[in-house]
Amino acid sequence: MSAGRLDGKVAIVTGGASGFGKGIVEKFVKEGSKVIIADLSVDIGNAVAAEYKCAFAKTDVTQRADWERVLATAVETYGQLDIVVNNAGATYSNKPTEQVTDADFDLVMNVNVKSIYLSSSVIVEYFLREKRPGCFIQIASTAGIRPRPGLTWYNTSKGAAITATKSLAVEYGPKQIRFNAVSPVVGSTAMTHLFLGKPDTPENRAAFVSTIPMGRPSMPSDIANTCCFLASDEAEFLTGTNIEVDGGRCV
Ligand SMILES: NC(=O)c1ccc[n+]([C@@H]2O[C@H](COP(=O)([O-])OP(=O)(O)OC[C@H]3O[C@@H](n4cnc5c(N)ncnc54)[C@H](O)[C@@H]3O)[C@@H](O)[C@H]2O)c1
Repeated sequence: MSAGRLDGKVAIVTGGASGFGKGIVEKFVKEGSKVIIADLSVDIGNAVAAEYKCAFAKTDVTQRADWERVLATAVETYGQLDIVVNNAGATYSNKPTEQVTDADFDLVMNVNVKSIYLSSSVIVEYFLREKRPGCFIQIASTAGIRPRPGLTWYNTSKGAAITATKSLAVEYGPKQIRFNAVSPVVGSTAMTHLFLGKPDTPENRAAFVSTIPMGRPSMPSDIANTCCFLASDEAEFLTGTNIEVDGGRCV
């Protein structure tokens, strides 16, 4: 059997129970990584963990204590941690921005931005203490670069995720801790109907997809393959990048 591209590594994948996150879990396990799925959803998270023979830790990525617990799970279960994929995300349904509520705003900022703050706050300290060349990957979005109407504060949260990634990359480059972002174009997941602001039917998705030069939505395997490259030693000199996985949408 040929060596896996992530052999010997241990990864936390937030939001790994569903959508892109599940695809990342599948790819990382296939390439030899040990994986801890960190998700709010207990039943589905445990089922996916059983399917891929990995660990599950109930985690709300907006809570510091949960980050401390998932780090402890990684160290107790697998003896180390190398990779954090900040994939869990949230949005409100596409609507005129003057109708956005305080709760909508807090949701996108907490799940999409505060999670990155907390993960770096808790886990950079571990990488520094253990002198490990850690790796963070943020799942941002083309929305952070080429925003569409009706999702202003979601778009803003993803712009913040990209800037945080670049800022952390320059700060911790000297410590060999890498930070990169992956920006998918619209996919077909549990979140898609919220981006569209209507049901995710082929007809409703067609307008979105018409702006993608390669003519299709992104798939979990597109995002997972990119994350695998960034997490692997092949990308050891890459930090501060934001890779658009978008069939040419952001050109
Ligand atoms: N689907 C798309 O079209 C699209 C496009 C660009 C970027 N993204 C981004 O990709 C990422 C994954 O989205 P998806 O489409 O796979 O969504 P999804 O809804 O299929 O999966 C999201 C997962 O995150 C978990 N989650 C939500 N809030 C959480 C929290 N507070 N703590 C822990 N887990 C939590 C959910 O339980 C779920 O398992 C998100 O960051 C999203 O913004 C999605």
